[in-house]
Amino acid sequence: MKSFVASLSACVIAGQLAAASFTPICHEPDSHPAIGAIYFMTNDGTANKVIAHEIQPDGTVVFGKTAWIGGKGLHGNDAPAATGPDPLFAQGALQVSGNHLFTINPGSNTASMFEIDDRDPTKLRLIGVPVNTGGEFPMAITASPKTNHVCVANGGKVNGVQCFTADPEQGLLPIQNSQRLLKLPLTTPPVGPPGTVSNIQFSGDGSKLFASVKGVPPKPGFIATWDVNQDGSLSQNFKSSTPAKGGMLPFSITPIPGKNAVLNTDAGVGFSVFDFSRGDVASSTVIPIKGQKATCWSAYSSKTGTFFLTDVGTATVTEVKVDQNLRGSIVKQYPLGAGTATVDNGIATVNGKDYLYVLQANITSVNVMSLKAPGQAKTIQTFNFAADAKKAGITVDRNNLQGMAVYTKF
Ligand SMILES: *[C@@H]1O[C@H](CO)[C@@H](O)[C@H](O)[C@H]1NC(C)=O
Repeated sequence: MKSFVASLSACVIAGQLAAASFTPICHEPDSHPAIGAIYFMTNDGTANKVIAHEIQPDGTVVFGKTAWIGGKGLHGNDAPAATGPDPLFAQGALQVSGNHLFTINPGSNTASMFEIDDRDPTKLRLIGVPVNTGGEFPMAITASPKTNHVCVANGGKVNGVQCFTADPEQGLLPIQNSQRLLKLPLTTPPVGPPGTVSNIQFSGDGSKLFASVKGVPPKPGFIATWDVNQDGSLSQNFKSSTPAKGGMLPFSITPIPGKNAVLNTDAGVGFSVFDFSRGDVASSTVIPIKGQKATCWSAYSSKTGTFFLTDVGTATVTEVKVDQNLRGSIVKQYPLGAGTATVDNGIATVNGKDYLYVLQANITSVNVMSLKAPGQAKTIQTFNFAADAKKAGITVDRNNLQGMAVYTKF
């Protein structure tokens, strides 16, 4: 017992000195091991910051640290008038790949790359400098662990995509011949949500790049697909896939594991499944969610084999499944409290179990659900981070909060 205490104090000293050679001594008696972190952004108009919460061994979160992304946030203009939550009309404002976090500054037209500290994943180190995104109002970013390529979607006056190589020393390096414009009639900031860019996502193998665009009723939106070459450059033109009848506002893009297909939330109806197995112009099916208002965000749980969709209007999580024949259906719905504005969500595997993290923007909270089995999600924490953020020197604006990326060590 005595030696344990001795090594513990040695650990504290080693920690204070930040002596790398003492690290192994530190690891075992550590009573507070950091398993992982969740990240979202303030999208503040003067200084856009990441808020990082630490994931604890039971899946719940505690406030961790904040980091300046190196630029400014910007809020889209909600049509017709009010300004509410979901400032970017988008999924994917932050993205984790390996031990790096990638994110954007919508008001500065830049993207940033951070290294995640393995010992304290709430500690972020900016790598290189924020880089120009080749457009205006960057609102989403994606990274392929397979190819090390990173692409940004711009949703303002100059809209489209631009790709980068993620260099662990220098940061984001623009890839030649990878800026592609969508040429949508948008302004900076854009007026939305209808007609705006929603998400950007690589296919599982990194060989395709998808970007989703919402329609302007009665004209439905689409998913744009580019071929990604070995060097990261993109095909000159994209192929456009429109949703089946009833689809209108394509939002999130979540690849369906083991399939050449994606799940796409549709803020106008529920969700769609786009099947790309016959080429870059997908066939699709639309699955309505009864009573939905704006189903926008989605994530996949490998433990339950189901997807979790959030609706900002109804503040409800809808769990859905997609079978072997790509038929989608609703498993269960979980209301998280009217008016809480459930926006982005993410899923982390902690000690062999999956947990869902939902940003409840309107009450400056993160809702944590344990995902024991399909149809058995259960809220285990609703954490209001406003007071801790204030202590850390940040006053959060609930209308500006966006994004949800997760990192776990194991
Ligand atoms: C946010 O909360 C306010 C009350 O504080 C409510 O009036 C409003 O409808 C809520 N917004 C959303 C999008 O849920």
